[in-house]
Amino acid sequence: MTGYISDDKRKVTTHRLSQMKERGEKISMLTAYDYSMAKIVDESGMDIILVGDSASNVMAGNTTTLPITLDQMIYHAQSVIRAVNRAMVVVDMPFGSYQGNSKEGLASAIRIMKESQCDAVKLEGGEEILETIKRILTAGIPIMGHLGLMPQSINKYGTYAVRAKDNEEAEKLIKDAKLLEEAGCFALVLEKIPADLAEKVAQELTIPVIGIGAGGGVDGQVLVIQDMLGINKGFSPKFLRRYADLHTIMTEGIQQYIKDVKSSDFPNEQEQY
Ligand code: KIV
Repeated sequence: MTGYISDDKRKVTTHRLSQMKERGEKISMLTAYDYSMAKIVDESGMDIILVGDSASNVMAGNTTTLPITLDQMIYHAQSVIRAVNRAMVVVDMPFGSYQGNSKEGLASAIRIMKESQCDAVKLEGGEEILETIKRILTAGIPIMGHLGLMPQSINKYGTYAVRAKDNEEAEKLIKDAKLLEEAGCFALVLEKIPADLAEKVAQELTIPVIGIGAGGGVDGQVLVIQDMLGINKGFSPKFLRRYADLHTIMTEGIQQYIKDVKSSDFPNEQEQY
């Protein structure tokens, strides 16, 4: 380990993530949806790359994650996988590909694993989808769970506000988290819930708990790359820290190119054959 960036080039596996939790080493996770970004993220030393269904929003411009299809998720996953050597690559199962029945869920998970050659899949939900989770796990496919704010259920909630603020929802979340661990999920994402609840879940589970808007008491953090690099400036929730202002850098670069083309400055003599 050089500082906090690992110089261990071995592939990150479920086993290594479990060891990281045991020794209290925080897990880094970030989304990527295409080859070029995934290459930068992997070479930076990220532990987990999530091919999130947030691709529906940030890549395709939809207002929710619901429209993205299984074929489109597989396309994004294939592009990412071609770029990655070290990080574990987890792929979101899209809305409609697993909620119906467990047989369909297994078929969708097998398609994702076979056609993209990713390392694991992520599903949103607890007890309601437990049968599907167990069926996918019996095929040897590692599953990352996802509880708290579940964007695929936005039409049920009607809001992207913080979840599990009341006792009833918090107790259900703890129960679901334990069910997912008992079933055999290797990790769990908790999205937008109170920090003390997330910390309690992370302490009670032996599998790594990765948070987004869930405070610092969990085992790792995940963000959407377009948000944290400041490409997507229209999304500023309290939990988001911006690490760059790529929107400004890119706009300035693009506008300079326009000026250079219009003024005939580009290409110059050295830039032609
Ligand atoms: O799709 C996604 O990007 C996610 C993260 C927000 C965890 O599920």
